[in-house]
Amino acid sequence: MSQYQIAIIVGSLRKDSINRKLAQALIKLGPSEFSFKQLEIGDLPLYNQDQDANQAASVVRLKNEVRAASGVIFVTPEYNRSIPGVLKNAIDNASRPYGDSAWTGKPAGVLGASIGTIGTALAQQHLRNCLAYLDAPTMGQPEVFIQVKEGFFDEAGNITSADTVRFLQGWMDRYVLWVKRHAE
Ligand SMILES: Cc1cc2nc3c(=O)[nH]c(=O)nc-3n(C[C@H](O)[C@H](O)[C@H](O)COP(=O)(O)O)c2cc1C
Repeated sequence: MSQYQIAIIVGSLRKDSINRKLAQALIKLGPSEFSFKQLEIGDLPLYNQDQDANQAASVVRLKNEVRAASGVIFVTPEYNRSIPGVLKNAIDNASRPYGDSAWTGKPAGVLGASIGTIGTALAQQHLRNCLAYLDAPTMGQPEVFIQVKEGFFDEAGNITSADTVRFLQGWMDRYVLWVKRHAE
């Protein structure tokens, strides 16, 4: 078993999500001592504070998975200049009840892919606001704003630009250090 297990949360439920493809390409760049698990967020209930004392099994599962992880990587689209509701819903569900947040202290990384030119920059900034409040130390640099055009991925889901792969490798190398620095 790898020494460090990293949870990956993709902010899109879409089958052909470019963010899921980006997450899968990123996983290939991790070192052998790191393993990655994409967490399911599509089956969570809409957050309702009335359920805090009786959280759904899917919420308990998500919280346990986040707690078991050495770090969390978010790979998200931008929806209407913010993060998708499904991602915010996952963040809210796993942050409660008050005092029992799963996010506290988890070294976080943030990336995103969009078809638009600003490559999820605004969504990522909103996500960083949430993570700062939740006390999840979030790596500041390098920022990853990916614009996906025709041919960005090949048929097998590989990123076709060697420069982009090199850039993402640099991101992963920094994130590995970030996780180790925050390891308890
Ligand atoms: C509801 C909705 C809102 C969107 N808003 C934005 C946006 O604010 N900025 C942007 O760059 N792209 C926006 N897009 C386009 C997304 O970049 C594009 O749909 C992308 O493929 C979504 O990521 P996914 O493939 O991982 O699902 C939006 C798409 C949807 C469905």
